[in-house]
Amino acid sequence: MKILIVEDDEDSGEALMHLLADLGYEVRLVLKPSLAGAVATELRPGVAILDIGLPVLSGIAAARQILASDPQSRIIFVSANGSPAMVEAAMHLGVRGYVLKSDAHQLVAAMDAISQGQVRRNELWITSKLWNNSHGRENVAAALGITLQDLGLDYLDLYLIHWPIPLKPGAVFPSSGADFISPKDVPVHSTWEGMEAAVRSGLARHIGVSNFSVKKLRNLLDHCTIKPEVDQVEMHPLLQQSDLVDFCAARGVHITAWAPLGSADRPDSTKKLGAPVLLDNPVINSIAKDRGCSAAQILIAWQVNRGISTIPKSVTPARLRENIAAADIVLSQADMARIAALDQGYRLIDGLFWTMEGSPWTLQNLWD
Ligand SMILES: NC(=O)c1ccc[n+]([C@@H]2O[C@H](COP(=O)([O-])OP(=O)(O)OC[C@H]3O[C@@H](n4cnc5c(N)ncnc54)[C@H](OP(=O)(O)O)[C@@H]3O)[C@@H](O)[C@H]2O)c1
Repeated sequence: MKILIVEDDEDSGEALMHLLADLGYEVRLVLKPSLAGAVATELRPGVAILDIGLPVLSGIAAARQILASDPQSRIIFVSANGSPAMVEAAMHLGVRGYVLKSDAHQLVAAMDAISQGQVRRNELWITSKLWNNSHGRENVAAALGITLQDLGLDYLDLYLIHWPIPLKPGAVFPSSGADFISPKDVPVHSTWEGMEAAVRSGLARHIGVSNFSVKKLRNLLDHCTIKPEVDQVEMHPLLQQSDLVDFCAARGVHITAWAPLGSADRPDSTKKLGAPVLLDNPVINSIAKDRGCSAAQILIAWQVNRGISTIPKSVTPARLRENIAAADIVLSQADMARIAALDQGYRLIDGLFWTMEGSPWTLQNLWD
């Protein structure tokens, strides 16, 4: 695999270059984004890594140049913690690109460990999601194929429809109402047939959805051949979604909670004024103090004690250890009752960005 790194900070660019070269990749480093297109032409076909050192606009310009010289390039924006602007900009870019919200070293180490057989594939559970611009039964296989190729995998353990919102093929993120496809034209059943085909072909072992309301899930369950096994949704003490929890328990759908710690590093553009900071919540902190553990651990333990799986995200090794240990904390009924009283039906990420003028979506029909 050839890799072009576009990174205007020489030290971090060289560090990444040496890391990848040591792993056997053919690597070129470009320090000036304006040279990216010319070098991409030489390297063609190439895979470009745009590191986060680039200012957002020059990163976008470099991505456009690379794609103009080699449309087959896959742009990988490597965005470590603290670069939501880059992630967001990439989403808006509308290029054929990918955003990995990950540390480059971790990404490379994981890919390399798998390829060298240090980690057996069956020891890992790998979930990915179908993005909105690949809805429709005929588009799922191609999108899944690209994901598998990018990750160097033969199959996914779990593949989810990311949002119940179809977008036009070129639109990574909508810039106007014209980028949406009406759900009447591409109903979710059609996309689901593509997901079922992925199971039959062995490319996805399990399939599910994400950000689906009770109504949408019921509709899908009533019309599917292979049922969605998982609904991955925002869930935490301020958004307990008891109706969804009860419905999923009754119909055998497992819930996975995202933003369990309040997603403090979500993009600024999605942060509402005065949004509560979950990790600072006084009730959570008082239970944590009583039990001699951290607020994050209480938030994770609450999910596990409710039978919900959760995916707290951290790039900090000590926090990863802390978060894993939280699964063993057993909360008392009194603790659970105190946390139950915190529910406000409050969405940290309410999906307002899907409801622009001309969009078929409103907050009411999204969360119906
Ligand atoms: N399906 C969807 O539509 C959807 C939407 C959003 C997110 N997700 C997924 O959900 C997962 C988690 O979501 P998230 O990142 O939004 O939110 P989160 O896990 O609620 O919060 C992550 C933040 O918490 C910090 N953190 C982690 N452990 C901590 C600890 N023990 N003490 C204090 N702070 C701690 C992290 O900092 P550090 O990293 O700096 O340690 C990071 O800033 C991710 O895998 C994400 O991809 C899915």
